[in-house]
Amino acid sequence: MVSGTGSNLRALLEAHDDPAYGARVVGVVSDRPGIRALEIAREAGIPTAVVALRDFEDRAAWDRATAEAVGVFAPDLVVLAGFMKLFGPDFLARWGGRIVNTHPALLPSFPGAHGVRDALAYGVKVSGCTVIVVDEGVDSGPIVAQVAVPVEADDDEESLHERIKLVERALLVDVVGRIAREGMTVDGRQVRLG
Ligand code: GAR
Repeated sequence: MVSGTGSNLRALLEAHDDPAYGARVVGVVSDRPGIRALEIAREAGIPTAVVALRDFEDRAAWDRATAEAVGVFAPDLVVLAGFMKLFGPDFLARWGGRIVNTHPALLPSFPGAHGVRDALAYGVKVSGCTVIVVDEGVDSGPIVAQVAVPVEADDDEESLHERIKLVERALLVDVVGRIAREGMTVDGRQVRLG
């Protein structure tokens, strides 16, 4: 699931070309039309769907429609690769426990839509990225994996985010492949791969 430029999606698509990787992207769902991530999916021949909030009466209806749109592809795992909306109870009832999200900060610090900006504003010297299992909170689910990235003295939001994205896409590709090949067990806040 995507909302933006699709660099994480592109990395997953490069990985899935290798049968040994174990996972395949079966479909891409976006909440926004016209984004680069959808083009990347189409260029790779992956079916797409757009479920835009503005086309629905309320958030609950959007949530139900999004759950349905994902269901069309019958995935084993839902990967939020830069998806910027929160799910409601209907989506979580159907897909909960099978959704992972990547976030550009070391959770539980700096959750939300501006993880990189908030970390810089706080003045941290180390940030990074986190893959979590999605729960009903904002970036509050059990942590699957993290990688630290040092903050440089002259970093701005863009430069730090670009460096985080380099390690983030490698981490996401690794985690999704491991879940596909070895499985994932979630016990409270403890997540085990394999
Ligand atoms: C990624 O850095 C991802 O962590 C972030 O959006 C970027 C998407 O990049 N997601 C969040 O901030 C979610 N809270 P991409 O569209 O190039 O893959």
